[in-house]
Amino acid sequence: MAYIQDIATHEGEQVTINGWLYNRRSSGKIHFLQVRDGSGFIQAVMSKATVGEEAFTQADHLSQETSLSVTGTVRADARARGGYEIDVISLEVHHEAHDFPITPKEHGVDFLLDRRHLWIRTPRQQAILRVRHEVINAVRDFFNQRDFILCDTPIFTPAACEGTTNLFPVQYFEDTTAYLTQSGQLYNEANAMALGRVYCFGPTFRAEKSKTRRHLTEFWMVEPEMAYANLEDVIELAEGLVEYVVGRALDRRAAELNVLERDTTRLEKVKAPFPRLSYDEAARILIDKGLPFQHGTDLGGTDETVLSDLYDRPVCVHRYPAAVKAFYMKPDPAQPDKALGVDVLAPEGYGEIIGGGERVADYDLLVQRIEEHKLPREAFEWYLDLRKYGSVPHAGFGMGIERVVGWICGLEHVRETIPYPRMLYRLYP
Ligand code: 4AD
Ligand code: MG
Repeated sequence: MAYIQDIATHEGEQVTINGWLYNRRSSGKIHFLQVRDGSGFIQAVMSKATVGEEAFTQADHLSQETSLSVTGTVRADARARGGYEIDVISLEVHHEAHDFPITPKEHGVDFLLDRRHLWIRTPRQQAILRVRHEVINAVRDFFNQRDFILCDTPIFTPAACEGTTNLFPVQYFEDTTAYLTQSGQLYNEANAMALGRVYCFGPTFRAEKSKTRRHLTEFWMVEPEMAYANLEDVIELAEGLVEYVVGRALDRRAAELNVLERDTTRLEKVKAPFPRLSYDEAARILIDKGLPFQHGTDLGGTDETVLSDLYDRPVCVHRYPAAVKAFYMKPDPAQPDKALGVDVLAPEGYGEIIGGGERVADYDLLVQRIEEHKLPREAFEWYLDLRKYGSVPHAGFGMGIERVVGWICGLEHVRETIPYPRMLYRLYP
């Protein structure tokens, strides 16, 4: 038994590949079987002369996604995708698939999303999911190598972290409402006071009612948090992370990026340090460009696209108006109407991939913020405790995995970056 990804190490040997038929072409005396095994795709060449009349005829009706084992000799072939082919000696069929709905022709996206459980078998989707795997592992390696402690945060939570408008309520036994977490940050802050530098990495949920190409209702976010750190520390960490993750995808997933026809020269430019813009500078650019942007409001998707299009690498926009940002953001002492927060916008119009900054460390100010945002104080008593017992400056950020994968892969929409996307009108399969 061998996996297609290791086929080069088996040149000249006889191997068996357990997989599925992706495509078949036949001429009178030869079947060209495109076989996939999850680790790759390879062409298996089955000639009547070698396998005999009976076996050859049995194979002439095999259809897409039939599960089979192919035994044959590995032969180098410069013309073959992947550089190798298999000369078939024998073939065993496990289960015949009939009328697999997703053929190599074009299908509409709703048709494909309804069949997402089958769609992921196709080369493009496999390539994207492999890049996702690389991004996730690169993120873990980055933080582990820097001695951040992985400290998980809960998914059932009693209160909001990122505003109350997009919370998902869940019935929690008879008389309690819990909410699916929007972010692990608040718990991360407690964990940082215990362990210094921590990160959490898990699914997060937001009842996003807007249909955009950047929003899912369930997405994965990695969130580092550091005690004794400020906005500058956060920007440097974010730059390092983004550079590392993109570098790993380029290093280890070149074949997949090639399947996706990604222009990797754009990704090769992603080197720290990244350009920085204050919110005020960003607002000026947008207004000068004639966009219908109001100074003092949050950046919209189009605004982000325009700004990120100006640079060949990500851009860090910092010091947004405190009024448009979350309750926990520390005000800038030099201009208290601005928050010490940063958003990292990916280039090529991909928009925000990271949001973070320095947190309010002062007890009284935090109480005031909780009241201003009309948040239920009882649910935040534990969070206020962090400002009662040895409060220190601290900072962190969150990076959305799907947005990063969408950008690295050069996709139109984040829905293809996760195996089973969840959106306003999509809960199936
Ligand atoms: O900017 P956000 O809302 O920040 C937070 O949640 C902070 N509490 C993080 C922190 O400081 N620990 O979200 C962070 C990132 C965004 O930049 C984006 O990449 C991603 O999460 N994100 C989404 N991705 C897909 N679909 C959505 N609906 C998303 N909302 C946010
Ligand atoms: Mg944000």
